[in-house]
Amino acid sequence: RRFLQTLGAVTLVTVVASGGAFWYFTAIEQNPGVQQDFDPEKKTLVILGSGWGATSLLKTLDTEDYNVILISPRNYFLFTPLLPSVAVGTVTSRSIIQPTRYVARHKKRKVSVIEAEATDVDPAKKTVTFSDNSSIQGQLWSTTIPYDYLVYAVGAETQTFNIPGVAEHACFMKELHDAEKFQTQFMDCVESAAFPGQSSEEIDRLLHMVVVGGGPTGIELSGELHDFLTDDLRQWYPELAERIRITLVEALPTVLPSFSKQLIDYTESTFKEAKIDILTKTMVKEIKERSVVVKMPDGTVKEMPVGLVVWAGGNKMRKLTADLMAKLPETQTNRRGLTVDDHLRLKGANSIFALGDCTATQYAPTAQVASQEGAYLARMFNQIAKRDALETKLKALQANPEQAAEADSMLKQITKLEKWRPFHYSHQGSLAYIGSDKAIADLPFFGDGNLATGGVATYLFWRSAYLSSLFSFRNRAFVASDWLKTKLFGRDVSRE
Ligand code: FAD
Ligand code: NAI
Repeated sequence: RRFLQTLGAVTLVTVVASGGAFWYFTAIEQNPGVQQDFDPEKKTLVILGSGWGATSLLKTLDTEDYNVILISPRNYFLFTPLLPSVAVGTVTSRSIIQPTRYVARHKKRKVSVIEAEATDVDPAKKTVTFSDNSSIQGQLWSTTIPYDYLVYAVGAETQTFNIPGVAEHACFMKELHDAEKFQTQFMDCVESAAFPGQSSEEIDRLLHMVVVGGGPTGIELSGELHDFLTDDLRQWYPELAERIRITLVEALPTVLPSFSKQLIDYTESTFKEAKIDILTKTMVKEIKERSVVVKMPDGTVKEMPVGLVVWAGGNKMRKLTADLMAKLPETQTNRRGLTVDDHLRLKGANSIFALGDCTATQYAPTAQVASQEGAYLARMFNQIAKRDALETKLKALQANPEQAAEADSMLKQITKLEKWRPFHYSHQGSLAYIGSDKAIADLPFFGDGNLATGGVATYLFWRSAYLSSLFSFRNRAFVASDWLKTKLFGRDVSRE
């Protein structure tokens, strides 16, 4: 009887909880209700980008204060930390993206989302020109709009140092399509190696994967690739799996220079056990269709036959950013990116704010920094809206000499409001997955202290940290179910 009572109680709770969740997601999440329309009295805030910085800003911003227009060639937010997992099929593409329109639709006032690429920013006229660069275009595909405030959050692109063959022959690991391209090309290499009668030399070439760049992107991708090999390819391609080689090439003396020494050593020894070759002090000089030319530490030049090369050589500024800097030659001279003040205002253009990877600040170009900057700017814009409203009132008061005292008091209020707190970055630690169910973490500990940890427990921490920092409950549910599916059924080796 007790068993039946317990079963009944559990069933009741499950039914009520599922019903509640069903009601919440169908009634609230999918039907967010009526939004206020644009208000001609409000200022226009244009946001460029839909990445970490822009999305964090949009999420926190009180849109009642502005008419917001967001322009980005990507109509979704991409959770970049799990991109290497998508590359090998541990999680699927759709699980780590969140449509920007979904975020916009949940704001109080309408937010106009435009899928287009900004091609010009004119800080003098306060205008942005943008174009629809997709393969299908309407009759109108390029236009210019004015802004009162502009948030510039276009990120960076992959640095190739103009090394010959990189753009033509290597795969990048920056955007969703890069991970998808990698997955297809990797499986292509494996299937071509399995082609009957393939020579032994050609099989070795096709199964040699070279990752260029020992920063966190290159390390995480190599780790994920190793897992794919040991967890899945050994089952499905037993005759080939042992011949797959992964080589990581890094120009500096060590990999992961931003992590503590102990974790660098731990990563190197984990890679050694996993049979991932690390070539440090080795510089890639050229990438050819079937080989990579490297300069070895002793100065000799070697040509390595390869099936696939992944280029993870760091960031460089976009052309749009370089063009904007050229318009502000006196204040924008840093070759790494845009110079901003403590309040993320672009030096030389007071109505533009810039954040994330497109800026050159004391902080590393990370998602953590960009998202904190976005949230900070959202709070700043709430203050700016208050200031602007008072300024409008002040102008009316100043027009009437009898209201001079009131105008004076309002001026004091405005001056007080303008004492905005500068941006302060709070570092939550650095985490990276290194394969073989191991992760590394450099975590802040009691003020200036640092806790460096690596291993399987850190991997579980990595998983829970990333799961909780995913954009929405929807993303969390998708990623958790992908992890479960991968555990139960393995990764999918079919090629699209
Ligand atoms: P992005 O997120 O790159 O967003 C830029 C946006 O601008 C995009 O929406 C883009 O489509 C848009 N855009 C581009 N050109 C234009 C244009 N002309 N007009 C309008 N919009 C434009 N950081 C961490 O802290 N932790 C991690 O674990 C981590 N893992 C990473 C893994 C990988 C594989 C990569 C590549 C990066 C990782 N990073 C990580 C770094 C992090 O992704 C970046 O620092 C972060 O994305 C920067 O945010 P952002 O908003 O400046 O730029
Ligand atoms: P990176 O700039 O950190 O590393 C690129 C590496 O490529 C450098 O070490 C460089 O020496 C090497 N390199 C460049 N050209 C080379 C050549 N010709 N031959 C050999 N090696 C060459 O770039 P990455 O890894 O893409 O990271 C970019 C930013 O994103 C960083 O700020 C990083 O911290 C952040 N990120 C953070 C992650 C995490 O915290 N888990 C994961 C991925 C990225």
